[in-house]
Amino acid sequence: MADDDRAALLGRIAELEAALAQAERRWAEAEAQQRRLDESRARLQAILDRTPTVLYLKDIEGRYQLVNRRFEQLFHAEQAALLGRTDFDLFPREAADAFRRNDLEALYAGAPIEREEIVPQDDGPHTYISIKFPLFDRGGAPVAVCGISTDITDRKHAAEALERQAAALRRSNAELEQFAWVASHDLQEPLRMVASFSQLLERRYGPQLPDEAREYIAFAVDGAKRMQTLIHDLLTLSRVSTRRAPFSPVDLGAALVEALSNLRVAVEESHAEVTGSGLPTVVADPGQMVQLLQNLVGNALKFHGGARPRVEVSAERRTGGWEVAVRDHGIGIAPEDGERIFRVFQRLHGRAEAPGTGIGLAICRRIVDRLGGRIWVDSQLGEGATFRFTVPDRAAE
Ligand SMILES: Nc1ncnc2c1ncn2[C@@H]1O[C@H](COP(=O)(O)OP(=O)(O)O)[C@@H](O)[C@H]1O
Ligand SMILES: [Mg+2]
Repeated sequence: MADDDRAALLGRIAELEAALAQAERRWAEAEAQQRRLDESRARLQAILDRTPTVLYLKDIEGRYQLVNRRFEQLFHAEQAALLGRTDFDLFPREAADAFRRNDLEALYAGAPIEREEIVPQDDGPHTYISIKFPLFDRGGAPVAVCGISTDITDRKHAAEALERQAAALRRSNAELEQFAWVASHDLQEPLRMVASFSQLLERRYGPQLPDEAREYIAFAVDGAKRMQTLIHDLLTLSRVSTRRAPFSPVDLGAALVEALSNLRVAVEESHAEVTGSGLPTVVADPGQMVQLLQNLVGNALKFHGGARPRVEVSAERRTGGWEVAVRDHGIGIAPEDGERIFRVFQRLHGRAEAPGTGIGLAICRRIVDRLGGRIWVDSQLGEGATFRFTVPDRAAE
């Protein structure tokens, strides 16, 4: 062989070797890329499989392309066996129809939709909240619909149970209110008769009767009058929720003036000094605000002890509303009694010490409850009492 030919041949071999090496490198690269692709696909599937929600991908004809482990477990279908099958192969017709309808809705919407779906399972129907959205090809045409479904059966049951309880409570509350109202209203009439006929008896026949008999009649009249007050107060209590006015702006300063005019006799008799300062306008039931201040100031006048009553009504701005304080310098309340006095008929003092029915503060609490506020007392025995309540900010109704 000529040297030239030989050199050409060697050159050709070297070229071929170089090409081979390059092919091998490319091959290795492709293999590495395939490995990375497999790994990332496996990682993606692992993520899908560990997700506790049900995940699936269907083509636009509704044929399954991919499901996660949760799907396989719940519906006893292996991913491989599912390929190419539709909801109509897996679920009863009615359910499959509903799923398909939602899939199509997502495809038409071209955006995620959220729907509740009822899914038949081994232990009966479950409620799912499903988010469904289309996937598009490069040209922007929808090629698949993806779904993520979360089982909300337990939450739904809990919410339903809560709603049932709330409804039962509303019913029994309404019945109670109705009962309190009817009872106190209907009791008034026979009571008026007892009171007026006892008084008539005393007026007409008093002079002829022995002292003892007159005393008995006085007891009867007194009892009837007390019962009238009691019924009047109970009616007021039941009216807090039955006769309510819409919330509107109320000038608390003006409400205090009105409360004091209702308490005029008590104020004059006790030579009380009642001051109001910095009282704001709040949004509330105007009549009930007067009632609230009247009950609190009325108590302050009643439980003042020996000294001339001094009562200060003031207000402070807090986040989200106002805090109003009614402060007296009277006999005070032991901290352990601070809560129970707001319950109906709870009184710390006998009738002999101070008249009353023990309903006033229960009315106050109901009024403040309706406002969405809080009422409480800060006090020590013998050191006066400060009743405070909050009025949350709100728009007029
Ligand atoms: N300002 C006050 N100072 C001391 N004790 C009070 C004061 N306000 C209320 N109380 C106590 O709380 C009880 C309940 O008050 P309330 O519900 O208004 O009923 P009533 O005024 O008819 O007694 C009162 O009987 C009294 O013992
Ligand atoms: Mg009272």
